[in-house]
This record gives sequence, structure tokens and C-alpha cells, in this order.
Amino acid sequence: MLQKTGWSICLIASAFSVSSFVQAFSMPKSIERGKEAYTTYCQNCHQPDGKGTPGAFPPVAKSDFLKKPVKAMIDNILKGQSGATTVNGQPYNGVMPAQDYLTDEQISDILNYVRNSWGNKSAVPVTPAIVKKARP
Ligand code: HEC
Repeated sequence: MLQKTGWSICLIASAFSVSSFVQAFSMPKSIERGKEAYTTYCQNCHQPDGKGTPGAFPPVAKSDFLKKPVKAMIDNILKGQSGATTVNGQPYNGVMPAQDYLTDEQISDILNYVRNSWGNKSAVPVTPAIVKKARP
């Protein structure tokens, strides 16, 4: 009897921790972590102010690219991007390396940061689960 009660408490406790993990996604915390990850993995090319470098690295601040579906943005980080493209009316033809070694959480954090900085605004979070689903 005692053992049985112990098991149910254990089951309840683990059900609890799983649901609190899911609910624990915090947009402000994700954006905070994303700033650090952006600094490490993106800033060299896209600059601290997200404005890029004219002619070489396109802006991510107020970029028309950010109006694309979330899947396209995740793909952009996972697969990189190269070849001729136009961002905010300016032509670019460079190489962005694939960064599929980043974790689901790092990619979600970076996108939440980028989508909510320098005048960009998107209240809808990109969660690690969404990134996981977008992986090939
Ligand atoms: C080594 C330099 C480099 C790094 C590091 C880099 N990018 Fe890029 N990024 C580029 C270049 C170059 C392009 C344009 C490629 C082309 O011409 O097709 C680009 C394109 C983009 C685009 C699409 C166009 C736009 O600017 O809206 C986004 C969004 C983007 N990068 C975000 C990121 C994010 C987020 C990271 C960090 C995870 C990152 N990049 C890391 C060089 C880089």
C-alpha cells in the first residue's frame, strides 16, 4: 500500500515537471539569451545594430526578410544562404554559412531576439519545438 502511494506521488510529480517545463518558455528570457547568441553567431556579419554592411551583409533590422514565414527564417540559419538576393531593395551576393550545429533553443532564442530588436516586432514566439520540427 505504502509502495503504491509512493509510485503515484512519483507519477504525479513527473507529470507536473513535464508540464511546468512546457509552460516555462518565457519570451523575455528567450530574447535575453538570444541577444548573447546573436552576439556570438551573427553579429560579426550582421552587426550589433542589425544593420549589416552595405553591399556585403544584408540588414536583419527592419529587413523585409523577417516578413517571411518562420520556417524560412529557421531554414536560413540551418542551411545558410548564398547567391544573388535582394534585401530592402539592395542587391547582395554573398555567403552565409549553415549553422545547423546550433541547438533548437539557440535558434529559437536568436530568432526571438532578432524578431524583437531594432524596431522589429513579433509577439508570437518561435519555440524550440517549432525549430525541431523544421529540421530536415
Ligand atoms: C559569415 C557571415 C554571416 C554570419 C555569421 C551570419 N550571416 Fe546571415 N547572411 C550573411 C550573408 C552574406 C547573407 C546574404 C546571402 C546572400 O547574398 O544570398 C545573409 C543573409 C541573412 C538573412 C536573410 C536576409 C536578411 O538579411 O534579411 C538573415 C535573416 C540572416 N542572414 C540572419 C542571420 C542570423 C540570425 C545569423 C546568426 C545565427 C546569421 N545571419 C549569421 C552573412 C552571415
